[in-house]
Amino acid sequence: MKDGNKNLYSAVQPTNNLTIGNYLGAIKNWVRLQNDYNCYYAIANMHAITVRQDPAELRRRTLSLAALFIACGIDPEKSALYVQSTVPAHAELCWVLNTFTYVGEMGRMTQFKDKSQKHADNINMGLMDYPVLMAADILLYQAAVVPIGKDQTQHLEIARDIAQRFNNAYTPTFTVPEGVYLKAAANICDLLNPDKKMSKSAENINGSIFLTDDRDTVIRKFKRAVTDSDGQIIYDPEKKPGVSNLLSIYSVFSDKSIDYAVKEFSGRGYGDFKLAVAETVADKLAPIQAEQEKLLKDKEYLDGVLKKGRDIAAYTANKTLNKVYKKIGFYQI
Ligand code: TYM
Repeated sequence: MKDGNKNLYSAVQPTNNLTIGNYLGAIKNWVRLQNDYNCYYAIANMHAITVRQDPAELRRRTLSLAALFIACGIDPEKSALYVQSTVPAHAELCWVLNTFTYVGEMGRMTQFKDKSQKHADNINMGLMDYPVLMAADILLYQAAVVPIGKDQTQHLEIARDIAQRFNNAYTPTFTVPEGVYLKAAANICDLLNPDKKMSKSAENINGSIFLTDDRDTVIRKFKRAVTDSDGQIIYDPEKKPGVSNLLSIYSVFSDKSIDYAVKEFSGRGYGDFKLAVAETVADKLAPIQAEQEKLLKDKEYLDGVLKKGRDIAAYTANKTLNKVYKKIGFYQI
C-alpha cells in the first residue's frame, strides 16, 4: 500500500461458479487498477448468506475464489485480498449505517425485488439490508473508486447517498465513492438471452460461460449463442444484442477494440465468428484454470495470503469505524 495513492474497493460473492461476466465486468479491471490504487479486494461471504448456502460448499468456494483472484492476476503483494467475514468492522459499520437508510428505499432496489421473486420462501432481512452492507464495505476503506459491472450501479448510488447523509449529519467522515466500469464489458449478456445479463445463477447454464468451463464446453456454448437473421457482424446493442455481446466478449478477451473486431470479421459468417470468439475465450481461460488448480493444492499459502489481507484490511477498517463511533457518540473506554 502506497502513501498518496487513492483507495479502491471491490468484492465478489463466493456463490456458484463465476462467469466471464464477473471476470470481464470486474476482475479484469481489478488487475489493471492495482498499480494505481491501494486496492482492497474481498470475498463477500456475508453477502452470500442472504441466500441459503451449503456450509461446506461456501467454505470450499471461498478458498477457490481466493485462488481464482490470484490466478487472474491479483497480486497479494500489492493488494489486500481477504474474506469479508474475517473483518468484523463490516457488520459493525453496517449496523450504524442502517440507521441512516430508509426502509422504503431498500424496498425499491431492483436486485432486492428480483431476488425476492426468485427466493419467495426466504425474503430475509439480510436480503433487504444487502446494499447497506455493501455501503459499509466500501465506506470502511474510504474508497474513491469501485470497479463494478452495470448491475451494481444502483447499489453504488445508495452507498454514495448514505456517505453524504452521514457526512452532512456530522462532519466529513467518508470518501464519496465513484463507480468505474470497463466500457465494453460492464454488461456481458446471456448467450441464449442477450437481453439479460449473464448470471452465475441463470436458469439455463448454456447461456453462461463459467470460468471453470473446459474448451469443448466453451465452444459448444458459443456455437449455440443466439444471434439474428441478417448475417452482418456489426456492433449495435439495441438492434443486434446477440452479435454485439459476442463482439464485446471478443474485444475484451483479445484486447482489441470493437471497431477493430468488426473489421476483422467483416464479410465472414456467424459460424466462423462464433468459433473465433469461442477459441479466443477458451485460450484465455485455460492458463487461469491451470493456475487456480495449482494454487488450490497449497492451502497454507492461500491461508497466508488471506491472513495478511485480513490484517491490512482490518487496520484501515478499524480506523474508519473508530472515527464513526466517536462522531455518533458511542462511549469509548
Ligand atoms: P457479484 O458477486 O454478483 O458480481 C461480482 C462482480 O461482477 C459484476 N458482474 C458483471 N459484469 C458485467 N457483466 C455481467 N454479466 C456481470 N455479472 C456480474 C458485478 O457487477 C460485480 O462487480 N454485491 C456485489 C459484491 C459486493 C461488492 C461490495 C462490490 C459486495 N460488497 C462492495 C463492490 C463493492 C455482488 O454481488 O457482485
